[in-house]
Amino acid sequence: MVVLGIETSCDETGVALYDSERGLLAHAIHTQAALHADYGGVVPELASRDHIRRVLPLTRGILHESGSKLADIGAVAYTQGPGLAGALLVGASIAQGLAYALGVPALGIHHLEGHLLSPLMAKPAPAFPFIALLVSGGHSQLMRINGIGDYELLGETLDDAAGEAFDKTAKLLGLGYPGGPELAALAKRGTPGRVKLPRPMLHSGDLDFSFSGLKTAVVMQVKDRELNAAARADIAAEFQAAIVDVLAAKSLAALERCGVAHLVVAGGVGANAELRARLHKAAAREGFTVYFPPAEFCTDNGAMIAFAAALRLEQDKGERARTDGSFSVRPRWNLATLDG
Ligand code: KG4
Ligand code: ZN
Repeated sequence: MVVLGIETSCDETGVALYDSERGLLAHAIHTQAALHADYGGVVPELASRDHIRRVLPLTRGILHESGSKLADIGAVAYTQGPGLAGALLVGASIAQGLAYALGVPALGIHHLEGHLLSPLMAKPAPAFPFIALLVSGGHSQLMRINGIGDYELLGETLDDAAGEAFDKTAKLLGLGYPGGPELAALAKRGTPGRVKLPRPMLHSGDLDFSFSGLKTAVVMQVKDRELNAAARADIAAEFQAAIVDVLAAKSLAALERCGVAHLVVAGGVGANAELRARLHKAAAREGFTVYFPPAEFCTDNGAMIAFAAALRLEQDKGERARTDGSFSVRPRWNLATLDG
């Protein structure tokens, strides 16, 4: 069955066509980064309005690119939450309207379920059970994934998400939004350790994270000082090293605690090259496997939504799908409350 997936939870409009037999047929992403750049963060109302403009042209584009027709679509999936309420409503209403018109089921997908199942698109796919390190702009969680819909929360951030810490620190260093990739680029020119930053909760003995203190430590470094380019690069490098140290140590602890040999990294921060290198090295040393989705599927995208929906439709036999055109969005939605 061909599933159209629509992702509009934040500042990326993502659409994709996933075929349960043939795999991913086509996908497209429009990022609103430039739209929000002047504000240093996502402006919800601008995000919603831009999603309205983008969803249908992007969908027409992927239908054309894959040689598909509207009539080929067997189900329409959309991100139901968590995310910005107005942005979610755009994807949900377009998806439900389209599904209703086509006479096919519509299915709301949990955004984080999309992220953490996306590595299963790879061939060969990681086997269950695996540990998922979910690190995005809104979330930092370690989960044990036993199967589709069977997710156990092991630890999470007590304050800022890892991506949020990247974004806020980038702003302090005068970089643009989104800050993660810009900070990572600046870090390449610096040396970690020249400036000292803390590794919050590294030895806390649990699997939780905290990143707001790290950001405060950067504030202390940049406050009332004129920093030259080299000093800023050193702070960026040390900041990135601190985050990577903590994420890697806690991921390894989760693998050990659960006796699991597979680690999957999902979410936008999974695109970070230092994190990837560190975990690949640890995997070779410690004898576990680590999977990263390709960079384009780490950040928000429609493919992960279409893919998660295809798995759900297969497993649940469509029992969650709606055909009556009614819908709701869930801006706050705890993944651990999703049932199998
Ligand atoms: O998963 P995602 O696209 O959206 C959310 O659901 O939040 O993640 C976006 C986050 C942003 O905070 C961005 O700065 C961060 O991922 N990010 C990175 C990198 N690429 C994106 N952080 C560190 N290094 C990167 N290369
Ligand atoms: Zn995301």
